[in-house]
Amino acid sequence: MFASCVPLVGPFTSRCALAPSSSSSLLLLLSSLSLLLLSAATPGLGSELRVRVRLADGLITEEVLEADSERDAISLEFKQGDGALVTFVADFKQNVKIFRALILGELERGQNQYQALCFLSRLNRNEIIPSESMARLRQKNPQAIRLAEERRGLEQLTMSTAVNLSRAGQLSSHVYNVCSEAHEAIYTSQDDAKHWLNKGVEGSVFEILPQTADTPGLQPCRVTRDLWQPCLCNYSLRLEWYPCLLKYCRSRDSTGKGTPYRCGIKSCSKGYQFTYYVPQKQLCLWDEET
Ligand SMILES: *[C@@H]1O[C@H](CO)[C@@H](O)[C@H](O)[C@H]1NC(C)=O
Ligand SMILES: *[C@@H]1O[C@H](CO)[C@@H](O)[C@H](O)[C@H]1NC(C)=O
Repeated sequence: MFASCVPLVGPFTSRCALAPSSSSSLLLLLSSLSLLLLSAATPGLGSELRVRVRLADGLITEEVLEADSERDAISLEFKQGDGALVTFVADFKQNVKIFRALILGELERGQNQYQALCFLSRLNRNEIIPSESMARLRQKNPQAIRLAEERRGLEQLTMSTAVNLSRAGQLSSHVYNVCSEAHEAIYTSQDDAKHWLNKGVEGSVFEILPQTADTPGLQPCRVTRDLWQPCLCNYSLRLEWYPCLLKYCRSRDSTGKGTPYRCGIKSCSKGYQFTYYVPQKQLCLWDEET
């Protein structure tokens, strides 16, 4: 069985894995009860919010959102219906986002208890709300089951460059902690690697991996039969609920003029599909032809 207490869960604090998601508790709530508000109080250095989120397969999961204003970072973590634990970190200091998946292994097929994957990518402006706003986020009804207001499409990312864990601190101070279990499986795109190289990151951080074009016979893992053959793997995940934008309201004063103030958030859902090289099909067992 998969241990319910993964040692490195949570990038900012170390704690146990989330409780298994409970489904089928239908709570019909007035939308006014499920509002997410930005509190005026000055937040502490670290703050945590737990929200209940409905996943695409209908299961309810508890998502933990943490903000670390000191390090200017946000993390988001939840367990999928298949038991995989997904962690997302947005590092605003270095404009890097980190996706980590801890996927349950198939013990009967000779795999480890779980397999860790890490994908690094550039964080663009306005992808997610700032850490300072995240730290102020409060919910009126923690029992409310949340669905994102905007469902965004699937972004396809070709992750053809490997990242050396012991040197990845140059990209983000969070990588070492978050991706340490994924040591041989940390990937980024060639484009992002180029961008970071131009900004002065050392070349030894990256290693170019074989591509379809220059590696004859390199096939998608989906159609590869031999478990020991190298192939191109697909892994997708979806951040089902995250605060993507700040909402502004207007306060009315006696003269009728409004002053805008930040009063809440808009939530989004977004999917990511990562295509990357694996030295053995064995490391990509979920990607099978059906
Ligand atoms: C990663 O970097 C470390 C430290 O510089 C080095 O010793 C190691 O050989 C590198 N690993 C790979 C796979 O290149
Ligand atoms: C990954 O999935 C996409 C769309 O589902 C597909 O177009 C692509 O060929 C797949 N790549 C591999 C290597 O399986």
